[in-house]
Amino acid sequence: MRLDVLFSPAGLTPAEVQGRTAFVIDILRATTSMCAALNHGAKAIIPVASTEEALRLAQTIGSADVLLAGEKSCLRIPGFHLGNSPLEMTEGTVRGKTIIVTTTNGTKALLACQGAAAVYGACAANLGVSAEKARETLEHDGRLLIVCAGRDGAFSLDDAYCAGRLAAAALGGRKPRRGLNDAALASLDLVRRYGDGWERPLRYSRAGRELIKLGFHEDVLDAARLDAYPVLAHFHERRVTLAPVPV
Ligand code: MLT
Repeated sequence: MRLDVLFSPAGLTPAEVQGRTAFVIDILRATTSMCAALNHGAKAIIPVASTEEALRLAQTIGSADVLLAGEKSCLRIPGFHLGNSPLEMTEGTVRGKTIIVTTTNGTKALLACQGAAAVYGACAANLGVSAEKARETLEHDGRLLIVCAGRDGAFSLDDAYCAGRLAAAALGGRKPRRGLNDAALASLDLVRRYGDGWERPLRYSRAGRELIKLGFHEDVLDAARLDAYPVLAHFHERRVTLAPVPV
């Protein structure tokens, strides 16, 4: 059994992801917003690396059913329809739409995992279904990769705590002595430290504090709602779409 957590996708090579199933976490806020959008009927989400690429792709697709979303320094990109808030992804706004999204860390982490056998977006809002898939993966493949989007190539408390919750759920009570990398062990320690409550690690993280300072307190609370958007967010062929939820 091998369970690896990466605190950031920096330095992740295609060889490391090849043949593996990866879960990508950017709880504040990219993967939470993606789950909110899918849960409210968005057709697909296309993560891209930059504002320019988002604009180019929207022009190429050239459809009224395309929305541009994302942030720079947590704020909506000028000219885009949406920012990066899960609360903006209402049914009235996103149903039937394809959303092209670019964010500082979250979309880059997803793109870094292209080439994996399967990639899923995880957060508190879809922890239950993600954990079920992660458990199934560990049982079936004997290995699992959890990639935190982190912050500018480094550790972030919010994503690392979420990684610990996902790892703990995937292990389902087992405490293996071997097969966990150091970051996996540390993320499980964070779960012991903060327990079941999501609010503390989210609010104490730098991302959480920054969002609260910018007036996005409600987003932090929304991201802390366990299983609020219970969708399995599957990133495949450049798009994030709904995958069937394991039974
Ligand atoms: C990111 O990709 O860095 C975050 O999702 C930023 C944000 O919360 O807007």
